[in-house]
Amino acid sequence: MTTARALTEQALESAVLGMYTDVAAQPDKEYHFWSGRPAAERFGYRAEWLDAAPLPAVESFAGVGNPHLHLEVPSGATIVDLGSGAGLDLFIAARRAGPTGRAIGVEMNEDMLRKATALARERGYATVEFRKGRIEEAPVADGCADVVISNGVINLSFRKKKVMAEAFRVLRPGGRASLTDVVSESLIPDSIRNDPKLWAS
Ligand SMILES: C[S@@+](CC[C@H](N)C(=O)[O-])C[C@H]1O[C@@H](n2cnc3c(N)ncnc32)[C@H](O)[C@@H]1O
Repeated sequence: MTTARALTEQALESAVLGMYTDVAAQPDKEYHFWSGRPAAERFGYRAEWLDAAPLPAVESFAGVGNPHLHLEVPSGATIVDLGSGAGLDLFIAARRAGPTGRAIGVEMNEDMLRKATALARERGYATVEFRKGRIEEAPVADGCADVVISNGVINLSFRKKKVMAEAFRVLRPGGRASLTDVVSESLIPDSIRNDPKLWAS
């Protein structure tokens, strides 16, 4: 990798880390994207899912859509969430999979990870675990997942093909992926792609 590219990627990643540290620690702050319960309601999350989930996970929700909307989560399913943030989607999926299911979140931001892990422990989500890692090299075994979800994360990666390859690697044959993300219908100019603030949003 050229030095210039490495430096740009470093700056982009540090902007992404900073942005979601803020979302973990200060969910009430005003962001330029929808967040928290109002965002989840806008995306059609069922009230009973939000009411049952840990409140701090709802408050720090920063997804861009609703991966549960058209998704069946069979009882006993193993779910992997790529870029799990404060954990809302994983807590919902874990309840849907029931006590014989398993739910694994992969997250690179220490503050999000700490928050989600504490919530799982404090609220008795025994089937939920959050692992520190990058979604480009997810710390999850091949073929272990019945369901892969991801919400608002792939757009933040500069190795999107690798992320998709990882989603397929961790899925078992016949498993399902439900990915909600931001897409652009036209090529984004370098002036935007290389601006850490715009990338992180
Ligand atoms: C927009 S937030 C969405 C979080 C969560 N999916 C939700 O719906 O609330 C993006 C999250 O992905 C994490 N993230 C971004 N790029 C990542 C990467 N390459 N590997 C792992 N996590 C990443 C960020 O730290 C942040 O917590």
